Amino acid sequence: MLRKPVVLITGASGEIGHGLIGSLANDADRPIITLDVKSLAHELGRLVAQEFIGSILDTDLLERILSEYEVDTVFHLAALLSTRSEFTPMTAHHVNVEGTMNLLEFAQKQGESHGRPVRFLYPSSIAAYGLPDAATKASVGKVTENEWTKPTTMYGCNKLYCEHMGRYYAKHYKQLAAEPLAGKVDFRCLRFPGLISAVTVPSGGTSDYAPEMIHAAAQGKPYPCFVRPDTRIPFMAMPDGVDALLRLAAAPKANLAHTVYNVGAFNPSAEEVRAVVLETFPDAEITYQVDEKRQGIVDAWPADVDDSAARRDWGYTPRYDFERAFSEYLIPTIRSRYQT
Ligand code: SER
Repeated sequence: MLRKPVVLITGASGEIGHGLIGSLANDADRPIITLDVKSLAHELGRLVAQEFIGSILDTDLLERILSEYEVDTVFHLAALLSTRSEFTPMTAHHVNVEGTMNLLEFAQKQGESHGRPVRFLYPSSIAAYGLPDAATKASVGKVTENEWTKPTTMYGCNKLYCEHMGRYYAKHYKQLAAEPLAGKVDFRCLRFPGLISAVTVPSGGTSDYAPEMIHAAAQGKPYPCFVRPDTRIPFMAMPDGVDALLRLAAAPKANLAHTVYNVGAFNPSAEEVRAVVLETFPDAEITYQVDEKRQGIVDAWPADVDDSAARRDWGYTPRYDFERAFSEYLIPTIRSRYQT
């Protein structure tokens, strides 16, 4: 019996998966299978052909998926975010690095068995950067993909290493073997800024202060922001993040000069986010209670990213700037979610 061609999403029950399943499910030609330690919300579960509950570290489970399905695209979203990874660096390494290695190996085997390159979409992060101090952060402004990649977090180290591992599978895999084996994995990576969703809240990240502030205000809950008012890093509205993944997945390979692309959209300070939230929810209680250690993590992330390569090579264009992200996406969607 022939295996069924599908798209695989790992970490599907997370924030990006939530948006991605909705968009991909519109395409009836590409059934979706998912792998996550948590089950999908009911409304998402209905949209997928099969939901595997389990870990990306379970290689027997990956073998079972390999035997049942012909996967031609992988969205490998499963990861432990930056704050959580600092508490359990070994677990972060297992999940973020060994888990990614398992998926790259899975994609390689898929490519070898069905003969076509497997597109492998990998979300990396601004955490892959590490700026030495605030003065440098202020003076360098937008960073390009190859500058300042000296991460200070376990998560950032994991992401940067996996970017290299993906490039290795795509271009140099087993380069000493008699027969060429590279090129079975068509690795494509986005370095995301902080993502802000109106329908889910993140857990365990360090850019979480912006989405947490907005969701708390909409629910009438006080929010002590854990970074200083002048903290500035890039952000993006979740629909643009999902759209970027889909566009990069669909781009002709010949156009892609890089394996890793920055994407950005707007880069407000924490105080600018607070001000716009207060315009909509004037009674919101947003205070500052700075956690110097988490502050140190965002201080090492760039104030903005240069995403000109993504714009040039595959037409990246975010729909939402700061103003529109709030007025057309976050506020209306959050209002209806919490019915304020
Ligand atoms: N949002 C992520 C985090 O804060 C960064 O990629 O960990």
